Amino acid sequence: MTAKKLYLRSFGCQMNDYDSQKIVDLMEMHGYERTEAVEEADLVVFNTCSIREKAQEKVFSDLGRIRDMRDEMGKKDMVIAVGGCVASQEGKKILTRAPYIGVVFGPQTLHRLPAMVEKFQRTGRSQVDISFPEIEKFDHLAEPKATSASAFVSIMEGCSKYCSYCVVPYTRGEEIHRPLMDVLVEVAKLASQGVKEVTLLGQNVNAYQGKMPDGEMADFAMLIEYVAEIDGIERIRYTTSHPQQFTQRLIDMYGKTNKLVNHVHLPVQSGSDRVLAAMKRGYTALEYKSIVRRLRAVRPDISIATDIIVGFPGETEEDYQATMQLIDEVGFDESFSFVYSRRPGTPAAYLEDTTPQEVKLARLKALQEKIYNHSVKISESMLGTVQRVLVLGPSRRGRGMMMARTDNNRIVNFVGDESLTDQMVNVKITVVNPHTLLGEMVA
Ligand code: SAH
Ligand code: SF4
Ligand code: F3S
Repeated sequence: MTAKKLYLRSFGCQMNDYDSQKIVDLMEMHGYERTEAVEEADLVVFNTCSIREKAQEKVFSDLGRIRDMRDEMGKKDMVIAVGGCVASQEGKKILTRAPYIGVVFGPQTLHRLPAMVEKFQRTGRSQVDISFPEIEKFDHLAEPKATSASAFVSIMEGCSKYCSYCVVPYTRGEEIHRPLMDVLVEVAKLASQGVKEVTLLGQNVNAYQGKMPDGEMADFAMLIEYVAEIDGIERIRYTTSHPQQFTQRLIDMYGKTNKLVNHVHLPVQSGSDRVLAAMKRGYTALEYKSIVRRLRAVRPDISIATDIIVGFPGETEEDYQATMQLIDEVGFDESFSFVYSRRPGTPAAYLEDTTPQEVKLARLKALQEKIYNHSVKISESMLGTVQRVLVLGPSRRGRGMMMARTDNNRIVNFVGDESLTDQMVNVKITVVNPHTLLGEMVA
């Protein structure tokens, strides 16, 4: 029997990408094989994101194109399924807008996809299930499977912070934390398959409270301590952390294990206390800076990436300047920054918003330039240093070059053998260009 073909597209964040991989693994267990050619697919899955309006609208226009293609080819049996945060947010309403969709499933019901597809095929009735059945999801997924020396492990689901602008608590549900042993077993299985770098995933990883076999709770610092002890794990990353629970215990871990990378992604959102309060972020700019100061006391050259929202309702020029000032004070290395997008159903959607879009766009542009300049300076300061890097594979430049990733997410090209793929090596940085680094392998 030839395998059925699955075409899957992922639209969202790393949590969403992680889920997409789980969907692929799960469908493979049910006789599907992934294809990159949508026209040969038996099942099309869109794993969607609704964090900003643009992301959500793109889903609907792309879905329309797939339906048109299906109809032109006369492929009546092609099933179209929509999962992820748009599915979760819209639920049954998706069928009003796009009645040709066969299956609507949420981030917490993706393990039910095979049964839902089967039921749709059997009955011809569209299936919708976007419920939040506690932790059930993790018990029904395929065994973790390493695809390279780097792997993601989800330690929690959902979010209970309810920042006033954000859909995530509504689309993914309240926070649920996986038990400590479940996480450690998954990391150990991946390590035994050659994984050296693990990224612990969740919306607020540092809020982690994982049940231990003795009934006590492990916090995030303790989780890191245990993960660092797993044979084969050489590098630990995590995303995303939240300033509210960035404890001194977590900061101290940076002094205790050099497996924690010299990089942290710590979203600040704004440098203005007034805006931070309206966003319901639960910290002030000073508290944020205090975390940075204490981190740098342990790791003086740690690279700090952040998320910033520009043009939150009521953001004044003064508020914006406070953000610009914070950027200089912290010296962010990278930012995921966007203009505020009004999300239906969130409290901020009811706030008065009088700043013209052009002003917001101009603010964003200047802010991104500022952070880019910091990032260039940080790259320049790496010249001559020796970096421990994870080799990803042959470089796109060819000519016997390999490419690798530094702690602070920069790609370094260096002359080396293909057998170095998936190894950790030391590379001395010899050339710094705006977009890439060149180096030489050293002992
Ligand atoms: N849990 C993480 C971030 C998750 S969402 C945190 O709290 O930091 C990823 C990023 O999307 C957020 O950090 C925020 O910067 C951005 N974002 C969320 N909702 C948004 C909205 N309505 N408009 C614009 N950006 C938004
Ligand atoms: Fe959204 Fe705030 Fe939760 Fe992050 S912490 S996912 S921004 S509600
Ligand atoms: Fe998007 Fe959902 Fe992630 S809204 S950012 S896919 S949690």
